[in-house]
Amino acid sequence: MDPFPFLIGQHPTVQKIHALIKKVTTTDATVLVMGESGTGKELVARATHQLSPRADRPFIPVNCGAIPAELLESEIFGHERGAFTGAIGARAGMFQLANGGTIFLDEVGEMSPRLQVKLLRVLQDREVRPVGADRTMKVDVRVLAATNKDLQQEVDRGTFREDLFYRLQVIPIVMPPLRERRSDIPLLTAHFLEKHNRKRPDHPVQITDESMVQLWEYDWPGNVRELENLVERMVILSEDGWIRVENLPSNIRSFISEKRIPKPSLSENGLDLNSAVEEFENRLIEEALRRTKGNKQAAARLLGLKRTTLVAKLRRRKSGAPYQGAQQSYLL
Ligand SMILES: Nc1ncnc2c1ncn2[C@@H]1O[C@H](COP(=O)(O)OP(=O)(O)OP(=O)(O)O)[C@@H](O)[C@H]1O
Ligand SMILES: [Mg+2]
Repeated sequence: MDPFPFLIGQHPTVQKIHALIKKVTTTDATVLVMGESGTGKELVARATHQLSPRADRPFIPVNCGAIPAELLESEIFGHERGAFTGAIGARAGMFQLANGGTIFLDEVGEMSPRLQVKLLRVLQDREVRPVGADRTMKVDVRVLAATNKDLQQEVDRGTFREDLFYRLQVIPIVMPPLRERRSDIPLLTAHFLEKHNRKRPDHPVQITDESMVQLWEYDWPGNVRELENLVERMVILSEDGWIRVENLPSNIRSFISEKRIPKPSLSENGLDLNSAVEEFENRLIEEALRRTKGNKQAAARLLGLKRTTLVAKLRRRKSGAPYQGAQQSYLL
């Protein structure tokens, strides 16, 4: 059975990560998962826990960036009765709750310097001291952490402790951004389509090849999360069972057209304005013809031209056009 049914990916980098996770499952080594937002860091942490002998024990995620700094210490380490105003009774922290299992310190780069010291001690001595307590207590917890910050840079800047950084990244795992593993985009898209189609089995939605090409070319600043959200939205909004290019959000379509038709730039040596304009026009005509499968009437409409104007332009290009290369399929 595939041990990673939830961590989809066949790109070599992802395969290496699968292998690494498998390797560390039998150890209690601390793992630091790094990578941009939405690349699957939390999934990696959950997989690491689920494949470990601690799987039937708790997995406790703590989002260090979402909890106010003054609360985080007692959330993580617990507190004694009367430790601070409002501490009516003693309370166990996440480390105690995770005993026997795994704690996942998400956005660990957001920890205050004071907490960093405390965490370092836990990693070294495997004991925690609740806020206001005068004694420490032993805990048996595996620590996994994640960050989308460049922690090395934070170390260089002096905002993250170097000793803690090395303690955390006994096993570093770097999740690649989706744009660096584009070959997984069709696989992930199919996976999310199936997942979201399952909720509406009467109206299964498919994606056209041309839309798939655009998803492949898009840069995905929000990574896999952005792709999943998009597929979910498209499945809900689709009217005829297809995700077509016209249905894709405008940010994706404009990204693609700018990528395919890069903005001309003025180099040091200047440029030949006439031929630059001609090339620009030519590429847009080609794009319009490609999108309309060579239908000149429809292409002219896309370009805001009369059909006759488009035909005249095409004829001019054909006789002595300097840029025929890309358009032969439609122009000859
Ligand atoms: N390889 C993958 N296979 C299937 N789903 C994935 C994969 N990677 C990410 N996802 C999905 O994308 C979403 C984001 O993943 P996750 O929460 O693990 O990212 P993250 O790196 O922790 O993001 P953030 O930095 O914003 O917290 C989740 O819904 C997750 O299920
Ligand atoms: Mg996360």
